[in-house]
Amino acid sequence: MSNLAQERVLSVHHWNDSLFSFRTTRNPGLRFENGQFVMIGLEVDGRPLTRAYSIASPNHEEHLEFFSIKVPNGPLTSRLQHLQPGDPIIVSKKPTGTLVLHDLKPGKHLYLLSTGTGLAPFIGVIQDPETYERFERVVLIHGVRNISELAYADFIEQHLPNNPYFGDAVREKLIYYPTVTREPFRNNGRLTDLISSGKLAADIGLPQLNPSHDRAMICGSPAMLEDSCKLLDGLGFEISKRIGEPGDYVIERAFVEK
Ligand code: A2P
Repeated sequence: MSNLAQERVLSVHHWNDSLFSFRTTRNPGLRFENGQFVMIGLEVDGRPLTRAYSIASPNHEEHLEFFSIKVPNGPLTSRLQHLQPGDPIIVSKKPTGTLVLHDLKPGKHLYLLSTGTGLAPFIGVIQDPETYERFERVVLIHGVRNISELAYADFIEQHLPNNPYFGDAVREKLIYYPTVTREPFRNNGRLTDLISSGKLAADIGLPQLNPSHDRAMICGSPAMLEDSCKLLDGLGFEISKRIGEPGDYVIERAFVEK
């Protein structure tokens, strides 16, 4: 367990039948950049069973927060969904990941493109004061099938603008754009279609995405990543090829097969 620490569950919130979030204690020595992930898990049959999870809480908070799907019969999530406050949970000591601000070149607008639990890393990024120092506008797009999957919507719309430290920046700069594909909602359609058609740009009042002024972070399913990369590449964006080498955009797979 040298690389793994034991923490405790502080609270659990179920968004709907298939999605939940939970908070854990955080070792004060655990340092991470907003947008990174860690391995977390449970001890099963005397051995650690861990999976990668993006950290949804910003690095200035004392706790850690994770956002998870419940995979029926998933080895880990079928257990994690029953977590209760006080339960032990394993958290690795080595956060890592590509969705970090410092791997983006300077720009005017930051687009955070997510589907499903791919939202998690961006919940941390939109609570990072540096995000608002570096960009004039921050556009968070969350694509889901059904309205009940729009986790964190109230937090983003009602709570964040009142944050005593960066609420002003949120009110001035953050644009939240949830979109639903399988039932009527104020925004409908896949984010890739909304971008390529120009509908997103028209709806939010910003110019079409362009690498001369825009940067992006992408987190979703493998198919969503592939289509989003094709779209951005077609618009002339260049991906960051490795950690530490800034590009116009960065990507990470949402970790779903759990
Ligand atoms: P759709 O309902 O049209 O499949 P999933 O739960 O399958 O990961 O999907 C989450 C959201 O991402 C859904 O709204 C889904 O739309 C959308 N989505 C799925 N595949 C892609 C893709 N290749 N590009 C963009 N959005 C996608």
